[in-house]
Amino acid sequence: MVHTDWYKNTVFYQIWPRSFRDGNGDGMGDLYGVIEKLDYIKSLGCDGIWFSPLYPSPGADCGYDISDYMDIDPQFGGMEAFETCLREAHNRGMKVIMDLVINHTSDEHEWFQKSRRRIDPYTDYYIWRPLRDDGKLPNNWDSHFEGKAWTFDPVRREYYLHLFAVKQPDLNMDNPLVREEVKKIMRFWLDKGVDGFREDVITFISKKEGLPDDRILPVYKGIFYYNHGPHIHAYLREFRDEVLSQYDCMTLAEAPMVTPKVALKYIDEGPDKQIDMMIQNEAMCADCFFQDYFPTKFHLRKLKRAFRTWQKKLDGKGWNMLFLENHDHPRIISRYGSEAFREASGKMLATAYLFQKGTPFLYQGQEIGMTNWHPSSWEDYEDVATRYYYTHKARKLTPRQRLHKLWRCSRDSARTLMQWDDSENAGFTTGKPWFAVNENYREINVARQEPDRNSVLNYYRLAIGLRKKLSCVRWGTYQEYRKGSDWLYMYSMRDDRQKILVICSFSDRVRKFRPPKEFHLDKGKRILCNYPEPEEDRLNPYEARVYFWN
Ligand code: GLC
Repeated sequence: MVHTDWYKNTVFYQIWPRSFRDGNGDGMGDLYGVIEKLDYIKSLGCDGIWFSPLYPSPGADCGYDISDYMDIDPQFGGMEAFETCLREAHNRGMKVIMDLVINHTSDEHEWFQKSRRRIDPYTDYYIWRPLRDDGKLPNNWDSHFEGKAWTFDPVRREYYLHLFAVKQPDLNMDNPLVREEVKKIMRFWLDKGVDGFREDVITFISKKEGLPDDRILPVYKGIFYYNHGPHIHAYLREFRDEVLSQYDCMTLAEAPMVTPKVALKYIDEGPDKQIDMMIQNEAMCADCFFQDYFPTKFHLRKLKRAFRTWQKKLDGKGWNMLFLENHDHPRIISRYGSEAFREASGKMLATAYLFQKGTPFLYQGQEIGMTNWHPSSWEDYEDVATRYYYTHKARKLTPRQRLHKLWRCSRDSARTLMQWDDSENAGFTTGKPWFAVNENYREINVARQEPDRNSVLNYYRLAIGLRKKLSCVRWGTYQEYRKGSDWLYMYSMRDDRQKILVICSFSDRVRKFRPPKEFHLDKGKRILCNYPEPEEDRLNPYEARVYFWN
């Protein structure tokens, strides 16, 4: 099967199904709601959808704990609704990719239930160990969500490894039977017509033999022993050769802590390419150290370095995935922009990433400039990692301080209900919603922004439309200017026919600026700007412009 690389011309929209739109009034987002909104998604210029998990799940990690890989959760409408949704999306020329979560399952999955009872062939589907002779846990690894990475199972009377929540036991990918299951799952969805997968923490699936203790890291102990582990490329090649190569599909791999050099071992466009694109988090670390829960001041230079590094180092070798938001991070305006200049900074941030080379992804609500949520109690949070943080970590902070930290760092900030209009529950449901709506929904919603030419929503449409027309964005070369500036981000894209200059101010003040010498703004055409009357030599707060020459 020839791979047409269609994803290089696609703009994706990520749907977090629970909070997107409830079509049947039971308070839970579902596929009926998605079907209603397909035209809306298409109207943004998006022609691909990534669904966060839709499979049956007890919901310990909002669906990232799967109890049946070959079905759709009835709460989202079941398989029939999914098939309709897929057909309707395809009818509109849109691609659909599924989240594929195979590092772990739910502990309620039949495989785990049988494994804990040592029923073959499931006995070794998971990573089971007894305590060590000295009575210690099998190793000292941490889980990402809930304390240590080992939990005792009273049925099997052994410990199982879980790199995430207690209810997310890790699969033993070294077992060939488990890999056969993965291939079966892939074929099942691809045969149904799905166009590819976003592969959840896929770089974690191969653990170092012997599961050694981590003697280096103070936190996230173990990560160097399972991230990009010993057999990762062999397993991915197996999935590629036996399944993925037989379909014109794409794969997007979530890869925590990855450098371009390591990424190229997966995505280099040569004959050994195993994955099409990677989700790398470097651009998500400009206001934190390593990850969201170690917040720092926002440093534009860090963000620019991340953008530049990936644009430059992958150029001509591998394909970039571009994003500023997803379901794992707080809202970008609240982080890198300014809630006080919400509209201007929302548009500026869109401009900053949408004209780079790669495949852009938008996350629901980003296109209307949604911001972080500020609940009055920690108990309003749903996310397993957020709740664990509040109840078990940062014990030196007062409850109030911890709550404030959640406002800033919790991924639930991006999981509140999609804001469709100013009616009750933001038009998300006619029933009792499963989760909260941000208190600002009367001001920030789709219905209000639709007719407003200057809204964030219509700016996204404009920017995506322009991007699609510009060959230099899709195939050209990236070059950055004023790299040292801590408020100005400026880059050009050029091919042999045209060039653009993108100018973004990350400052909340009016600032003087000069374009790079070789760009004569008066000879170019200003094709995008988030202010009506920009001035020649100064930029308004969070101003963004794009100039074009051919
Ligand atoms: C990935 C997902 C995240 C999930 C975790 C465990 O990082 O993006 O939402 O909680 O994996 O599956």
